[in-house]
Amino acid sequence: MRKIIIAIDGYSACGKSTTAIEVAKELGYKYIDSGAMYRAVTYYFLEHLVAITNPKEVDRALQQIKISFMVNKKGDTETFLNGINIEKSIRKMRISEFVSQVSTIKAVRDAMVSQQRKLGKDRGIVMDGRDIGTVVFPEAELKIFLTADILVRAFRRQRELLEREDLVDIDSIIENLQQRDKIDSNRTESPLVKAADAVGIDTTHITIDEQVDEVIRIALTKMIRSIKRPA
Ligand code: DC
Repeated sequence: MRKIIIAIDGYSACGKSTTAIEVAKELGYKYIDSGAMYRAVTYYFLEHLVAITNPKEVDRALQQIKISFMVNKKGDTETFLNGINIEKSIRKMRISEFVSQVSTIKAVRDAMVSQQRKLGKDRGIVMDGRDIGTVVFPEAELKIFLTADILVRAFRRQRELLEREDLVDIDSIIENLQQRDKIDSNRTESPLVKAADAVGIDTTHITIDEQVDEVIRIALTKMIRSIKRPA
């Protein structure tokens, strides 16, 4: 069956990554977490004290950054920066506090989008993020846009952080999510918006399994239709 591109966009902590990972596993597709790439850049900028208001410094830093992904023994994808595994570090609140700001920088976005397109050139990919269906792969056969109630999102994120032994109070998480929603949705470069042809799914009252099943059901329908009506 012809491989398709599945773009999953939406707000932070709506279950995008978990859904994308499971959908990719079920379909035997590659999974790419584009947010991890912005987090990796943020990690590098913080570690090297890059002044984000200085375009020359930003460009120089971007030339030093090589992001890659590897699947570990458990089957989970881990993020590498210049060959070093930074998966745990980029999930910390410290990175979440700065990542949206870094993601507003055009040079950063241009560099990430170009890498993301290369990763998707063979299709058969599920990529999650904020601008995947609008900017990175506007031609994606399936676009999903996830939303959920802010409290539900905050509790999900708190549980994720706890699993990584990072105890953060719920108010700080809500504040961080709201702040990031605001920056991600209002930035000039590729703001977070639902693509006109995206399927919206509100995940407030559904489980991850239900989310995954729904996306797979829509994906399979698309694939079958594309066999019947070749492009
Ligand atoms: O998905 P995440 O929460 O790990 O993403 C972290 C940040 O990266 C998010 O606040 C905005 C930015 N991001 C982006 O601007 N574009 C993407 N395609 C993915 C993430």
